[in-house]
Amino acid sequence: MDKLVIVGGNKLCGEVRISGAKNASLPIMAAALLANGKCVIHNVPELDDVWVMLALLEELGVKAAFRGGVLRLDTTHAEPLTPDRELLGRIRASNLLLGSLVGRFGEAEVAASGGCSIGARPLDLHFAALQRMGVRFLPTPEGHLAFCRELRGADITLAFPSVGATENVLMAAALAEGRTVLHNAAAEPEIADLAGFINAMGGRISGAGTDTIIIDGVKKLGGAEYTVMPDRIETGTFLLAGAMCGGSVVLRGARPEHNGALLAVLRQAGAGLACGADFIAVRGGGRLQSLDVATAPYPGFPTDMQPQLAAMLCLADGCSHVCETVFENRFRYIDELKKMGASIQVSGNCAIIKGTSGLSGAEVTACDLRAGAALVLAGLAASGRTIVERADLIDRGYEDLTAKLGSLGADIRRIAAGAGRERIS
Ligand code: EPZ
Repeated sequence: MDKLVIVGGNKLCGEVRISGAKNASLPIMAAALLANGKCVIHNVPELDDVWVMLALLEELGVKAAFRGGVLRLDTTHAEPLTPDRELLGRIRASNLLLGSLVGRFGEAEVAASGGCSIGARPLDLHFAALQRMGVRFLPTPEGHLAFCRELRGADITLAFPSVGATENVLMAAALAEGRTVLHNAAAEPEIADLAGFINAMGGRISGAGTDTIIIDGVKKLGGAEYTVMPDRIETGTFLLAGAMCGGSVVLRGARPEHNGALLAVLRQAGAGLACGADFIAVRGGGRLQSLDVATAPYPGFPTDMQPQLAAMLCLADGCSHVCETVFENRFRYIDELKKMGASIQVSGNCAIIKGTSGLSGAEVTACDLRAGAALVLAGLAASGRTIVERADLIDRGYEDLTAKLGSLGADIRRIAAGAGRERIS
């Protein structure tokens, strides 16, 4: 597996453009199956997870071309087949094919989906919601067969504002008979982006981005042209990099309104921030202040920024508490940060972080996408050389991360698997 070699201590200065959002692109790609026609989707990031979703769509008979961030999909000859199970198991977003296949064809085979190992990640909320719409689930050796004679709108309340369950309901309800009202829906900006795309195809969705979404089913959806929102988690990751390394970084295309909770935390920690309609600038360098943060569904502090925040708080003055309330196993990166001199203890669902004067480079291994991002941030701010193994996990969610950080002045290189072994000097 490839690795990243970072020599820490450089200030980060300059401007980078934020890529399209992974967690909006993936549901939008699945939703394209609802239409019988051609879609052109702009600002799609070139990420491993996007390529996997593209391969899944092609196995379902979709004709696809992806170049320069523009994704062209022709779903005219799509069929409710069962894609390769290994492929299905590689990304969590494969379970989003459930809503679109059931919506378009009335059937879908659900196999165990993959994704970051940050918790059990069951699908019970997805199934319960779709059963309210008339979908039946039959267990199969590898998962479940979902089918329904007539998909009908329903009044649904999610027991937890699950992002994926909300997305599956939006897609199935878009072509159901009648009205669906979804209560306790996830309100993440990616949900509003998905609804925007479905409405561009002729759907009738209102309230997306709030906890109550109304979907009036239509008979048919056609192809559309759409532009994906910027990635708010990439934005947050670069903001923390700037706060930790000092210097001044401008994130072009970033949307402040998508990052309210993170910006508030950064201000509280003492980072300098400036925002415009389509940029956010961060100035680091001063001593960061410790603070207490708990993750929560949007608009709360995003769980996908929790590891990166913990890395930053290793450098803050005093003792911080970071509590994870969304996933049950999202602290596996902490042992890796300890190899770099971090002083962190986990108690229940909280990490207690004692700020140190600095971190030291070490050989560390990413255990999932955002954990990998946290280790990169720590390496950028540490003294000496850090080697981050499993760069492939980071490729899942960050487009051109090494090039973007390098353009800001970071000393970061990618070593292909099998190349000469780099040791900490
Ligand atoms: C999406 O995952 C994102 N992935 C995740 O981002 C993100 O962390 C998560 O939403 C929360 O914001 C994509 O959009 C592809 P959930 P999803 O359903 O939909 C439990 C990243 O780093 N739950 O909101 O899987 C679940 O176990 C990734 O980009 C059930 O119990 O998240 C978890 O504890 C990581 N039953 C909580 O709800 C269900 O049926 C939130 O899950 C569904 C979920």
